[in-house]
Parts: sequence; structure tokens; C-alpha cells
Amino acid sequence: HAQGKVEGSVFDFAEVAAGVDADHHVAEGYDADVLIRWGDKIFADSPDFDPLNQSEAAQERQFGYNNDYVGFIPLEGAADHGLLVVNHEYTNEHLMFPGIVTVNGDEITVAAATEERVNIEMAAHGGTVIEIRKTDGKWQVVPEGAMNRRITAKTEMAIAGPAAGHARMQSVADATGTKVLGTINDCAGGITPWGTWIMGEENFHGYFIGALPADHPEAANYERLGLPGENYEWGRFHDRFDLSKDPNEANRHGWMVEVDPLDPNSVPKKRTALGRFKHEGAESALAADGRVVFYMGDDERFEYVYKFVTAGTYNPDDRAANMDLLDEGTLYVARFDEDGSMTWLPLVHGEGPLTAENGFESQADVVIEARRAADLLEATPMDRPEDVEPNPANGRVYVMLTNNTKREEANAANPRVENAFGHVIEIQEAGGDLAATTGTWEILVKCGDPAIAEVGATFSTATTENGWFGMPDNCAIDADGRLWVATDGNAPGKTGRTDGLWAMDTDGAARGTSRLFYRVPVGAELCGPFMTADMTTFFVAVQHPADGGEDWDGHGRPSYYEDLSTRWPDFDDSMPVRPAVVAITRQDGGRIG
Ligand code: FEO
Ligand code: CA
Ligand code: CA
Ligand code: CA
Repeated sequence: HAQGKVEGSVFDFAEVAAGVDADHHVAEGYDADVLIRWGDKIFADSPDFDPLNQSEAAQERQFGYNNDYVGFIPLEGAADHGLLVVNHEYTNEHLMFPGIVTVNGDEITVAAATEERVNIEMAAHGGTVIEIRKTDGKWQVVPEGAMNRRITAKTEMAIAGPAAGHARMQSVADATGTKVLGTINDCAGGITPWGTWIMGEENFHGYFIGALPADHPEAANYERLGLPGENYEWGRFHDRFDLSKDPNEANRHGWMVEVDPLDPNSVPKKRTALGRFKHEGAESALAADGRVVFYMGDDERFEYVYKFVTAGTYNPDDRAANMDLLDEGTLYVARFDEDGSMTWLPLVHGEGPLTAENGFESQADVVIEARRAADLLEATPMDRPEDVEPNPANGRVYVMLTNNTKREEANAANPRVENAFGHVIEIQEAGGDLAATTGTWEILVKCGDPAIAEVGATFSTATTENGWFGMPDNCAIDADGRLWVATDGNAPGKTGRTDGLWAMDTDGAARGTSRLFYRVPVGAELCGPFMTADMTTFFVAVQHPADGGEDWDGHGRPSYYEDLSTRWPDFDDSMPVRPAVVAITRQDGGRIG
């Protein structure tokens, strides 16, 4: 290779040149093929995508917007046939709908929503289950797949675990506190050992409008979460998203949602035992004794890193026996000490400060206000925790901390003030056991451009000018235990490069060396990354291409039929730019990386 193997590295591929343009780019010798795009058919009888005449009914049967988490569940153990599960985190109206953006000098206005537009937005949220098959080395969707499914912001779901039925979970529409319509802003997620898909409800506050009634008991709880965020207009047409009309509905969002993709009629369950906050994802692995450990980030400045340890153990011989494992267990929050040790603090009602005197009458109160419970336990406020992934082989855990430009005081675990580029922490759980309640930690890398001294980045000296990254967000540990990092926030104006997927050495002489494997089109971030167990396919999600108004080659302000910075992936003037899931394979069919 031109940029040959780094001494001691577990990776061996020719690095991509960092930069920015209208297309995506993968390492030489690999193919990056678009597998499914916004608007593509999910069922054999789905309507064709007609972007000028989109409807709620059509969107409910088509692939949703802004693909984020991607998981693959093999069918009958096959490496080349299975279910792809995808989160649709949010919608970009200015890129989706023609004729709604007005530009007047520096003034950019997006037209007020109609009810039909809001309903299309709601149908473009949620998730997709779609059967896929690899034939002659190329993946294709199977629209006839019997398990294909769209989940939206209107899909009926059950509320399970300690908050189910609690008075604070009872809404105008659901007096039982056990049923809720839909899931919103699902960011990263996970596949459980028993083959279910869990979705993390992240910035749910943005969907609510209106003011709580005066002196409402949820006022402090909602303020802690930034409610109402008023980023969407759904509450103008659906009362449950208006706090003045349905004050408790917002307590019914901000959870992890478990879906059984093998049963298209199954009712998704909001698993309240895992706490309510702005969930990034929840990747899991088995502890030494067979309990299952889920790692979670709360993605906001100065929020926390959590893990959930099931009370029961995983039964590999009886799938049904595992289906409610997520309802009982212990939720912990992390305290990172200055000496490199750490403690997982249990969020258990009645223990320590989590008592009635502090407003926690039961475990339901603890999980509904997980952030306030974590404050009282004196967990460590972090620089925006995103994905957290365990390596079950050695009990190490990687924490992506994306950035925090508001930090004024550094500490050992968040060592930079005005942290613009983020960092990655490596935890070593005590005894290599993921269920341990203590461990040690160190910083794997402080991110940013190592050539700019004041940035203070700490990539290895073997890292090239293409290899460094900023704003780590999602990550993947592959079947060999190797770390891959995807980014969100690199942009021409900020770093002269787009987001992408980097291979990151964690051991030996090459530790701290990063190499660019794939990069996205202008305006996009890279989500998903999910490598199949046989290591021959890397699924990645290209989210919000053309967003952000980057003036990288003289293009103006991106909106539907304005001067878009890219029309990836169709490059057709009659088509909008479209988020899409991409399958990366090696041209010789071999192992990736
Ligand atoms: Fe949806 Fe934390 O990124
Ligand atoms: Ca995102
Ligand atoms: Ca993310
Ligand atoms: Ca992010």
C-alpha cells in the first residue's frame, strides 16, 4: 500500500485522503454501495417515491429519514441473509419538502408546517426492519420480506419496568400509564444477545411546545431536560406534544425502546428500568456470570455515562426466557476519579440520597428523573457522552465524548476547557468483568488536528494528516475486538474535512493511531457503523447529507430545490438529496480492514 501498514497496527488498508466534496469515498480495494435511501420501498406494494407529492400514507410504507443506528440480525445464522434494523432519528424539513424555504438576503425562513407535513415528518421518524440478502457479493433489500416493518412516531408501544402505570406516566390519552404512541429522535441503539433491537430516544425535548400549567409538579424535571424544545410543530396538530394540553406526555419519552424484529406484530416496549435521559445508544455484552450489561451515554453537555446490569442471566437456549430481562436490574452512573479509578454508583431507590426526603418516592421516580438522581450521587459530568461500547474479550469499554465548548473547568476525565474536538476514554472494568462496580480508566486519545499545537490532540505520531478526527460519536468493536470510530461535526469551516469512519488502534506500539477508512458527502455525519460477525460487510448510515449550509465550493444555502451542495446519492436534479444506508465490502470478498 502507498500508505503502508503502521508498525504494530491491527489494521492494513490504504488510507482515504481526508477532504470534502459531493460524494463519499472508501479505501482503495473496497466498494461502498448504497443499499437503501429515504423513500425506498419497504413492502412489495409500497408506492414509488414521489418527492413532489409525498404523503403520510406513502411515507409509512417507505424508508424513513436520517438513518442513524444500523444493526444486522442474521436469519437462521446465515452470514448473507438477515434483517437490517435502522433508526430514523429526525427530519430536515428544508431538505425534504419543496418550496418551503424563502431566502431574503441573510434571512432564511422555513414555512410554517401544515398538518399533512407534520404527519409526514412523524411517519419519517422511528425505525425500519427490512430483510436483506447478499447475492454475488452485493447486498439487496427484499421488499417481500415477511418481517419488514415501519415503526413511526404513531406506532403503539407498551411501557414496561418500574415506571409502568405510575401516575407521572398517565397522560390525557392513556389513563393507565402503560401505553404510548410512537418513539422519537432515536439515535444510536443496540442488538441484544437474544436478537432484539433497542432504540435510544435522544433529543425528545425538541418535539414539545407549550407551557406547563402554573405550579405543575413536573416543572423542575422538564427544565432539567430542556422541555419544551420547540424544534418541531407537531404540538400544533397533536395535543400530546403540547405541554399545556397534556402535561405528562413528555415523561413517556426519553427511554430505551426494545423491538422484536422477528415478529412484525410485536408491540415495542419502552424499558423504563434503563432510565430516562437523552439516550445515545445501548450496546451490550455478557458479564462473567451471564448477566447482560448495557452501556449508555446521555448526550448533552455535562451529562453522564450509565450502565444497566440485568438481574437475570442470558439463556442462549431459550429466546423467550430473555424477552423481559430488561425490566429488572440495576442502573448505574459513572464517577471518574482524578487518580484514574472509577466507581459505578447504583441508582436504587432508598439507597444513599435517593429517598422520599429528596422527592424519590419509588424506583419509578428514580428512573423518570435519572439525571437528578445521578446529580445527587455526585456522578462525573462529562463532555457529551455519545456511544459507549464494551469489548467483552478483555472487559474494556470505549466512551465517545464528542465535545463541550462550554466547559470552563477541566478535570482528569474531561481534561480540556472549551473542548471543541472531544476525546475517547478507555475504561478497564475490575477483573475484566463488565458487571464490576469499580474499574480504572484512561484517555485513549484527545481529538483534533495534531498539527495545531493549541488543540492539544494526542494521536500517535504514526497518525497521518488524514488519520486524525474530531467529534467522535458512534463507534463499533468488530469481531476481532478492533475499535472503529464514526464522527459528527467535522465540517469544511471547522476542520476542512467531512465526517467519516476511522480505524483506531488500542494496543501495543500502534495504540492511539487512527486511519481514515471512509468519508461522507458534504454536510453529512456518519452514523451506524455495524460490521457483520464474519467481518465482510460494514454497514454505515449517511445522515443529513447537504445540511448545514457549507459554502465549500461556492454553493449557497442548501434547501430542497435551491443550490444544494450535493444531491447524493442520486445526483439527479429531479431528486432531493437523500440520507441512505451504505454497505461497504472488500472487492475480493475478504475481511474488512
Ligand atoms: Fe443523535 Fe448524540 O447524537
Ligand atoms: Ca445524529
Ligand atoms: Ca449519535
Ligand atoms: Ca452527535
